[in-house]
Amino acid sequence: MALTFDDGPGPYTGWLLDILAERRVRASFFVVGRMVSEEDEAVLRRMVAEGHELGNHTWNHPQLTRLGPGEVREELGRTQWLVKRVTGVTMDLMRPPYGLTGPWVAAESRHLGLAQILWNVDTRDWHDRDVSIVAHRAAGAGPGSIVLLHDIHPSTVRAVPRLLDDLAGKGYRFVTLSELYGRRPVPGRRYYHNP
Ligand code: NI
Repeated sequence: MALTFDDGPGPYTGWLLDILAERRVRASFFVVGRMVSEEDEAVLRRMVAEGHELGNHTWNHPQLTRLGPGEVREELGRTQWLVKRVTGVTMDLMRPPYGLTGPWVAAESRHLGLAQILWNVDTRDWHDRDVSIVAHRAAGAGPGSIVLLHDIHPSTVRAVPRLLDDLAGKGYRFVTLSELYGRRPVPGRRYYHNP
């Protein structure tokens, strides 16, 4: 299964990377461009160096379905360029904020070479800042699941060791999204879990 962390990087992202490194777990991070401070540039490079996957979560985290095609392109393009400049990585995944997508979002994602990655397990960790609740919801994941988490909340980072223990105890391995699909996802297409 794939663990995905949205809306960062933030103050707790380095701590999360320590936890993942200690347990040799790889994850995927959907980056909000305006969240990337100068110090966070090193955090992005660390993610790449430690085998994590980066995805585009827009620049300002807007509801993309309310924007015109030019604005959608700007939102995705700015973050795409920033991550490329800082890490050298050309991202091929995006996640629309709030999961809100439509024909224009699909078209602009395709134009930028980005597959649309949704999820099938929502921990609602932004709402319930509680370690037990977050770990319990994540434990509902199954083979091929994509689990939605947010690394901007300390309660989520604190829940990660527990959910890793619970799920690893059931025999699950944690992989990046590219590894989950085993090939480059098709730009513009929507992906949930696999299969
Ligand atoms: Ni988000």
